[in-house]
Amino acid sequence: MASVLQRQRPVSPVRPEEVSATRQPTERASTLPPRVYHDPEVFQYERDAWFSADWLCVGREEDAAEPGEYFLTQLFGENIIVVRSDDRQLRAFHNVCRHRGATIVEEPCGKLVRFQCPYHAWIYDLKGNLRPPRHTETLENFDLSQNGLFQVRLDTWAGFIFLNLDPQAAPLAEHLGEFPNHWQPFPIAELRRSQRMEYHVKANWKALVENYSECYHCPGVHPLLNHLTPYNLGGYLPGSGNWAASWMELTSDYETLSIDGYLHGRKRIPGMRPEDLKRVYYAFIWPNLLYSLHPDFLMIHLVWPINAEESTVICELFFHPETMAEPDFDPSGPKEFWDLTNRQDWHVCELQQAGTASRSYVPGRYSIIEKMVHSFDAMVADRYANDGQRTVVVREAIKNWGGARTKRRSQPAELRESAD
Ligand code: FES
Ligand SMILES: [Fe+2]
Repeated sequence: MASVLQRQRPVSPVRPEEVSATRQPTERASTLPPRVYHDPEVFQYERDAWFSADWLCVGREEDAAEPGEYFLTQLFGENIIVVRSDDRQLRAFHNVCRHRGATIVEEPCGKLVRFQCPYHAWIYDLKGNLRPPRHTETLENFDLSQNGLFQVRLDTWAGFIFLNLDPQAAPLAEHLGEFPNHWQPFPIAELRRSQRMEYHVKANWKALVENYSECYHCPGVHPLLNHLTPYNLGGYLPGSGNWAASWMELTSDYETLSIDGYLHGRKRIPGMRPEDLKRVYYAFIWPNLLYSLHPDFLMIHLVWPINAEESTVICELFFHPETMAEPDFDPSGPKEFWDLTNRQDWHVCELQQAGTASRSYVPGRYSIIEKMVHSFDAMVADRYANDGQRTVVVREAIKNWGGARTKRRSQPAELRESAD
């Protein structure tokens, strides 16, 4: 199968000295330099060196479940077809005709038996092989097998489809490292999408990942979330790989994160151990997949940078098919809760984006319960420095990151309203 030539590795515009203060133990470290949230040159580097060379989650296997089903995805200027071929394998191709370069497939998703270019009708099968085009019989040195669609690397984990534009990149399994071990008890691949929310946020993609990675802001920004899972009850999961993960504890008799904290008959995801019943897990997988396992649903956020100062965020909720098949299945509680929480987060991210543009801003210090933010920033800093050194922030499991247990709080306004 044809593959695209690798491009030259871009040179980092951020010098190692600029990020050395971030590559320290949390107790001594400072946050990233402000220009990495604003400078178009830095963004260009991240796009070329990271997003064009790392494994990116673009969807779920259910999005192309049957042979011929496909969807298009836009990856940083590249238009890609993800298709289930007739041998049931998922494949990804550049959506570019090998004749004179027309875009082949225009509909964003659907089902096809072959790809036919709308310009001069060259035809490719679902494995990307070119069928003999008209009036090419007498061409010299024209090898059909060398003129198939250019393939993009595709791999899956737990029902998630990942693409990588870099033919030389390490395998997905190496990228994820020990991440999958933590979720083995649960049938993550069986879960199905129920809800999708999309947001435009005026903030750098890194500010959004950082915001997701701590609950230091929760008492003030998310009164309802903080009532159900107090910000100072939680811990970190250890392990190798390009990710970081934590968990938070549901207090009182609350069962999940939803607008009133209860399941209302929704079944828990199979495989939950006693400790999982009172936990919400939060993980980020480098660079832009945020993964949150709740007792009854999985939520993901995909953070897609638009430019240095704007991002699109897709938030999706997945439930077990048996839960979704119940006649009274109602996902509105979790959806309403997370739409509210998401919007609260985007607001403070936009405030940070505005403030860090000031000439007065210099890198700040991490609180001791921002180790997951620091883990992400250290990954960013290591990649800018590009010197082969890896900064490890969380080396072993940490429980009770906030120290003392929190006092019971009065009910937040959202819950009082819904109780009326
Ligand atoms: S450009 Fe596709 S067939 Fe000519
Ligand atoms: Fe938040």
